[in-house]
Amino acid sequence: MKDDDFGPLEPTPQAWLDWTSAKQALASDPARSAWVSANAGSGKTHVLTQRVIRLLLSGCRPSAILCLTYTKAAASEMSNRVFERLAEWVTLDDDALDDRIAAIEGERPDLLKRQEARRLFARALETPGGLKIQTIHAFCEALLHQFPLEANVAGHFSVLDDRASATLLADARRALLTATASEDDLELTEAFATVLELADDTGLEKLLSAIVAHRTPIQLFLDAAAHQGGIDPALRLALGLDSDETTQTALAGFWPLKGLNGAAVERYIGMALSAGGAKVTEVCRRLARGRKTDRPAAAL
Ligand SMILES: Nc1ncnc2c1ncn2[C@@H]1O[C@H](COP(=O)(O)OP(=O)(O)O)[C@@H](O)[C@H]1O
Ligand SMILES: [Mg+2]
Repeated sequence: MKDDDFGPLEPTPQAWLDWTSAKQALASDPARSAWVSANAGSGKTHVLTQRVIRLLLSGCRPSAILCLTYTKAAASEMSNRVFERLAEWVTLDDDALDDRIAAIEGERPDLLKRQEARRLFARALETPGGLKIQTIHAFCEALLHQFPLEANVAGHFSVLDDRASATLLADARRALLTATASEDDLELTEAFATVLELADDTGLEKLLSAIVAHRTPIQLFLDAAAHQGGIDPALRLALGLDSDETTQTALAGFWPLKGLNGAAVERYIGMALSAGGAKVTEVCRRLARGRKTDRPAAAL
């Protein structure tokens, strides 16, 4: 919906309020699919609350409505607002209630609709499996509990909170490290030695955390690698390396660098050394050293 669908706006507060309310009415119309994005405090929760109420007013079963939020605070705010509004409708006099409904729906209700509106509070509370306003996490957890077989999870699982999971991971890490100290598992011991050689023990910590954080893609890679003849062939395939490529052949492929030993570089080094600052001088020294060596890895 474009802003100019409403024609030019008078620069008055009332005009802006009317414009906002008209847009909110469109977005809360249950017959439309709507995507709302707006600044904090501009009325998003208001629109969502209104949409739920209009769904209920139009005869929708409370148990057929699902509202998902990201935080628990947002879920309880939504729930409070819906129930506050419906609770108020139980006790309002007819005229006032008709006004409220007209403000939401754009027309005054007939007798039947007014009576129905008064009963909404009780219906929303009493329907088994009532109105569902919950976080997306709670919803997913409930789904997994309902379909453990399909999801391939243990039937009576519970979800760890962040602190418990950090404790368990730390325990597992400690168990892993002490197990390798006993040198029962030669391959694992060697793997640890390699990592410690490349990085110190904080590097090992970081590596283990990264593995845990990316365990799903890593597992997928390992499964795929098993079909491609192992990790080494799988990595070579992914990186476009021949099966007989080694560090030496790769280096030999581009070393000596074309032109590195030419007169132009020679002249540049001379000029830079006489005119340059500390950084330039350092780079030139290295360049000069690289020109002399015949060991590509060291030169690189
Ligand atoms: N059309 C409206 N008429 C009256 N009050 C409104 C309207 N739209 C929003 N509000 C009020 O503005 C405040 C902020 O709205 P809220 O829905 O919480 O915003 P958001 O969720 O976008 O942060 C709330 O108190 C809400 O009741
Ligand atoms: Mg909000």
